[in-house]
Amino acid sequence: MIRIFCFSGTGHSMAVARYFAESLKTETTDITQKKTIPCTESEISIIVFPVYCGNIPKIVKSVLPKINSKYFVLIATYGRISTGNVLWESARLVKGKVIAAEYVPTGHTYLDEPAEFDAEILKPVLKRIKQPKEIVVKKERKGILPYIFPNLRSHLGVKISRTADCNKCDLCKRSCPMQAISGGKISKNCIRCLRCVKTCPRNALEVTYNPLLKKYLKKNIKNI
Ligand SMILES: Cc1cc2nc3c(=O)[nH]c(=O)nc-3n(C[C@H](O)[C@H](O)[C@H](O)COP(=O)(O)O)c2cc1C
Repeated sequence: MIRIFCFSGTGHSMAVARYFAESLKTETTDITQKKTIPCTESEISIIVFPVYCGNIPKIVKSVLPKINSKYFVLIATYGRISTGNVLWESARLVKGKVIAAEYVPTGHTYLDEPAEFDAEILKPVLKRIKQPKEIVVKKERKGILPYIFPNLRSHLGVKISRTADCNKCDLCKRSCPMQAISGGKISKNCIRCLRCVKTCPRNALEVTYNPLLKKYLKKNIKNI
């Protein structure tokens, strides 16, 4: 049995997970709904998640060792800035053999780019799923930035605030993978994934970016 697990803030990783689901005629499970992680072992688990500040998002990091599977396919989407060493790090966290690991460049959350990706990158991965064989995931140069207070950097760079359009429906609270919203307030547990902003049916959550962050993104984004 093949299972697909995904964490997605704004839908980019979900688009990739859906591509696998359609190609393999199966469904996608939201990795943040911990109760839905099955205890039975799958033959193959495909895990799709974004790179956050050159790291594995902490919600994903905590779930990876809990997934029971013989083989793993690891897919990390990223906004064409940097990937850190996320695939190698996640390969060390899963309990099973890694048969494919791929970075998928896509739109950057903070530049409000669409969730587009080149499906050609994933075709060799689909082949490996049909004939599973363990691979060695290469360690890459991570650089220093991912180690420098990643959460603090997100908090300083991105502010989320409620506008008068909020009708307190609590959809944002229920969508938050970190349970960081309570009484309309956003706590320090927030990872700035912007899922709440995307979920709000009234667009009542406003995002403001630190100009330095915007400048950094525009300067460093690669055209792939
Ligand atoms: C908190 C945060 C940190 C990010 N850090 C990086 C990064 O280090 N390198 C990069 O290329 N993209 C980075 N991005 C962009 C996302 O990796 C990219 O847009 C991803 O496809 C978003 O997937 P999602 O919509 O499934 O959450 C970051 C996005 C967020 C929200």
